[in-house]
Amino acid sequence: MVSKTIPVDVFDLTIFGATGDLAKRKILPGLFRRMRAGQFDKNSRIIGASRTDYDSVGFRKDIHDALKEHIAPEELNKEDVEAFLNCLEYVAVDIFDTGGWKELAALQRDGVVRAFYFSVGPSLFGEIARKLTSNGMVNEQTRVVVEKPFGRDLETAKALNAEFRACFNEDQIYRIDHYLGKETVQNLMALRFGNILFEPLWNSQYIDHVQITASESLGVGGRGAYYDKSGAMRDMVQNHLMQLLCLTAMEPPSRFESNAVRDEKLKIIRALSGVTKSDIVRGQYAASGDEPSYVTDSENPESITESFLAMKVNIENWRWAGVPFYLRTGKRLRHRMTEIAIVFKDPPHSIFEPQDDRKGNVLVIRLQPDEGMTMRVTIKEPGPGGMRLREVPLDMTFADVLADKVEDTPDAYERLIMDVIRGNQTLFMRGDEVEAAWAWVDPMLQGWTERKEKPKPYDQGGSGPDDALMLLHKDGRRWREITK
Ligand code: BG6
Repeated sequence: MVSKTIPVDVFDLTIFGATGDLAKRKILPGLFRRMRAGQFDKNSRIIGASRTDYDSVGFRKDIHDALKEHIAPEELNKEDVEAFLNCLEYVAVDIFDTGGWKELAALQRDGVVRAFYFSVGPSLFGEIARKLTSNGMVNEQTRVVVEKPFGRDLETAKALNAEFRACFNEDQIYRIDHYLGKETVQNLMALRFGNILFEPLWNSQYIDHVQITASESLGVGGRGAYYDKSGAMRDMVQNHLMQLLCLTAMEPPSRFESNAVRDEKLKIIRALSGVTKSDIVRGQYAASGDEPSYVTDSENPESITESFLAMKVNIENWRWAGVPFYLRTGKRLRHRMTEIAIVFKDPPHSIFEPQDDRKGNVLVIRLQPDEGMTMRVTIKEPGPGGMRLREVPLDMTFADVLADKVEDTPDAYERLIMDVIRGNQTLFMRGDEVEAAWAWVDPMLQGWTERKEKPKPYDQGGSGPDDALMLLHKDGRRWREITK
């Protein structure tokens, strides 16, 4: 059985920064795949806009090279590539001057979806927004897509929101968090709200705690300059981990509709309590053999930026009172692994002999690798020897269960870009959500910046600084292993 691909309306998509890394690595290859899957056809157009001074022919050649680099050869058949390249146009645009804007405006067609992807640094967002408006390119069909980082604190996020709102309505602004485009993230909502089984147990009466881990094996090499100004808090926690936390913790929305879902997420962010210094562990990876340390990778010998962060977070509402959410993310850890683990309480009374190694029920929602869900349940060990209990996984690795479907599943960017064309904002962050997330994060950032706090060094290939283990040990709990 093949995935159902629903074609989108005809569109003109202009990509600012079309010759940059993200456009070549993710956005344009993603669009190629969607065209190949039949989600749009040759009537739609993709317009590259950037400073680079070349024409549509040069742009097509450049993008052809990018496709060869980022798409498997067996997916690159000649006809599909030609059809895709024929959809591409290019305009050289000077963002801070007048060059190219009239030409760009002249290319926009009426009566089709008109999307603009800001694949550029945030310092250019405001100016591009103003130029689109002053050159008459904003109409009812206009949508703008912006990448993170959306601000670096509450103040800058508010300023960016104000600049955007001066030019567009909120329902025209698509703030991307690519974690929301991941298949399993949406599956989390399907699991919670499409089954009767879990929701009755989804509260402080049955859940002991939640662990959210986004571990990466790579370092920051190549992106050191950007990363050193961000750190794990701004790069991963304020956005990606926050979104995972919201979807895990939110109340059921009344409908699966953008504002209903975003209202519920916002309530969670606003219910987060402040995190005390003792509940935060910051780390920085040390050198290991031939592998450089963080300070070498970031080319900043004095850096006190964290490449690892673990924290204990509480949600102040009825459902979650007394249930800690432990968040952990870091670079150069043992494996690349992202998961949400719901750790349930023990049964109130055991009728069996006590056993030292009992672990209890855990529901694991694994985002990567091997997307899927596993529920750890207790059974009787088979065979003679009395009533000995053991835990076994009820495993639902999507690649096994849904093998034929998983292959043509769009990746996060593909899905999100198609949602922009459809006008579906459910998987994008609303302005108030982003501001609330910064409002929660800011005091922590300010705290360690003012204290000039040095992160704890940690070994590469492990699970972060020992203090992160202590964060759970002191509560009588332990982190799950970072496994492949
Ligand atoms: C990005 C961060 O947003 O997400 C990167 O800037 C990080 O530092 C990446 O590596 C992780 O994304 P994924 O999809 O590989 O988990």
